[in-house]
Amino acid sequence: FVSSLLPAAAMRFWATCPSSFTISFLFIILMVSTIFHCHQRLALVPTPWASPRRVVLAPRALPQGGVFTIKAQGRLGNQMGEYATLYALAKMNGRPAFIPAQMHNMLAPIFRITLPVLHDTTASRVPWQNYHLNDWMEERHRHIPWEYVRLTGYPCSWTFYHHLRAEILREFTLHDHVREEAQSYLRGLQVKGSRPSTFVGVHVRRGDYVHVMPQVWKGVVADRRYLEQALDWFRARYRTPIFVVTSDGMAWCRQNIDSSLRDVAFAGSGHQGSPGKDFALLTQCNHTIMTVGTFGVWAAYLAGGNVVYLANFTLPGSPFRAVFKPQAAFLPEWVGIAADLGQARKSRP
Ligand SMILES: *[C@@H]1O[C@H](CO)[C@@H](O)[C@H](O)[C@H]1NC(C)=O
Ligand SMILES: *[C@@H]1O[C@H](CO)[C@@H](O)[C@H](O)[C@H]1NC(C)=O
Repeated sequence: FVSSLLPAAAMRFWATCPSSFTISFLFIILMVSTIFHCHQRLALVPTPWASPRRVVLAPRALPQGGVFTIKAQGRLGNQMGEYATLYALAKMNGRPAFIPAQMHNMLAPIFRITLPVLHDTTASRVPWQNYHLNDWMEERHRHIPWEYVRLTGYPCSWTFYHHLRAEILREFTLHDHVREEAQSYLRGLQVKGSRPSTFVGVHVRRGDYVHVMPQVWKGVVADRRYLEQALDWFRARYRTPIFVVTSDGMAWCRQNIDSSLRDVAFAGSGHQGSPGKDFALLTQCNHTIMTVGTFGVWAAYLAGGNVVYLANFTLPGSPFRAVFKPQAAFLPEWVGIAADLGQARKSRP
């Protein structure tokens, strides 16, 4: 029972300690000193588990008076939105927040997140009330009447957490080795033989969206013309910018982003299974060009510079408009460039 209250992270961490088997019977008594011991041993290993801040134990019994958690759904950008929304709403309602192990597994290898983990077997005993969120803040969320609340939905909107921006940025601080890898890549880049003055991260969302946008949402993804306009926006404002392109469709980017000015670096690995590297590159750039999707929104939010985004990318009557409010997704100071909806109109049934 006690071990079931331990977070998955601690259990996994435990499993990596070579002497864990023999001393596991003394686990409870020796827990603190042993974990410390393992930290010492792992201190040179560049894994997420090497940092003493990684392992946060859930309490043996859940706190009286309520707990908030959230359903872990989607990939990196979605789960960042869920994490930040949980963080903010739990705080607003004066409750402690716990994340599912699955969310910890997604985020902890990249960021120095601090919310403790709720092990699945503990979570399964809690009489949760599911509480659905739209993708924008609502007044009723300030007074959620239940004690054990599991938030659901795909929230990714600054309207939930922008008042806590400094804390959210701290939660999503990159691990040193992740940041250093991105920085060393950026240090190696040149524009026409000299060091760039300004780095602009470009995220081009393709993958499944290439089909889902027209077919399900009656909209478009970014085209060649949008990217040209977005790059030119920065070229007009900065002396020697370099564009650091990441995408889940790198081949399309190589064919459709004009690199004849020698200021474009096709940097992305495009591996959806290990998105941390591409994400880190974008956040280490000074400014952001995004297309659609929460991955780009988060990269832009964390980079904190000028942001150009694809605006009005769905047709009137698109079901996307019922679940997505642009003014809740994009900060007012970000710059929208309207999509060319010609393709979507042609494929309209
Ligand atoms: C721009 O980004 C680079 C790479 O992260 C960084 O070294 C530089 O200080 C940034 N410039 C400004 C003005 O923030
Ligand atoms: C998007 O459409 C809205 C409503 O028609 C309009 O007010 C806004 O200016 C458009 N945005 C861009 C960037 O064209």
